[in-house]
Amino acid sequence: MLKTEKPLIEVFGRRPGRSQLALKGAELAGVGSQSRILEVGCAFGDTARLLAETYGCAVTGIDVVREYIERAVERSRLANGQVEFVVADAAKLPFPSQSFSHVICEAVFSLLSDKEAVVAEFHRVLHEHGRVIINDFILKHRIAENIQKKMEFVPCFYGVKTAWEYTRLFSQNGFRQLSFSDHSAELARTAMWLSKAYGISIKELDRLFVSLLSQGNCQCENLHHSRRFFQEARLGYGQFIFEKI
Ligand SMILES: C[S@@+](CC[C@H](N)C(=O)[O-])C[C@H]1O[C@@H](n2cnc3c(N)ncnc32)[C@H](O)[C@@H]1O
Repeated sequence: MLKTEKPLIEVFGRRPGRSQLALKGAELAGVGSQSRILEVGCAFGDTARLLAETYGCAVTGIDVVREYIERAVERSRLANGQVEFVVADAAKLPFPSQSFSHVICEAVFSLLSDKEAVVAEFHRVLHEHGRVIINDFILKHRIAENIQKKMEFVPCFYGVKTAWEYTRLFSQNGFRQLSFSDHSAELARTAMWLSKAYGISIKELDRLFVSLLSQGNCQCENLHHSRRFFQEARLGYGQFIFEKI
């Protein structure tokens, strides 16, 4: 019996260290009061609100899930600064070209299936020299494709790539990398946070992911795939800042 019935997206969204990392990225990327920020995959809008309140700048949050956007709107009534939320797909942004100075994307890029289309959209909607902040899972080394492809039920692990692959993807699509920093210690903190919130041991987390995310598929098989994935993959977490050239 779990200690909370709250969905993973909500508990994960409150992980410790998330806000500090977002603010660190914003500082490195030169966010200020005149910035116009697009947050991609904002879920309930916590980071969008944080940035609007901290900098007094305009922030637009988008997410594909209408229910998340409705909750983000509800929670943002008290935000100081201009914050708005729109249901939209990262690969098809409903904004004119050169609308934003910054894009921030936390724990989202890894799960996107058409990463090239998304990078092209970031490039289109950014001002000249606009910046992208990516905080996300990374693979410390490549793993066998057949092992990773079994992780479809956890999209961010299914789609996660090495830091080098992200760097190459952005570099080949109109960006230069300004910085990369390794924040893999965040993963251990997040794992501890999840295990505490759900009242289970860290060893049981893979079982939790399987039971919460399997959606009717065979949980025994997914547990087997998940154990194999974690045996092979050294997961990390990193922050990238890219600049449009
Ligand atoms: C793992 S959650 C991360 C949420 C939040 N950014 C955080 O750090 O806690 C991934 C979010 O990306 C959203 N998402 C997935 N695919 C998307 C897409 N193509 N365009 C926009 N948002 C997407 C999901 O609905 C979800 O809210």
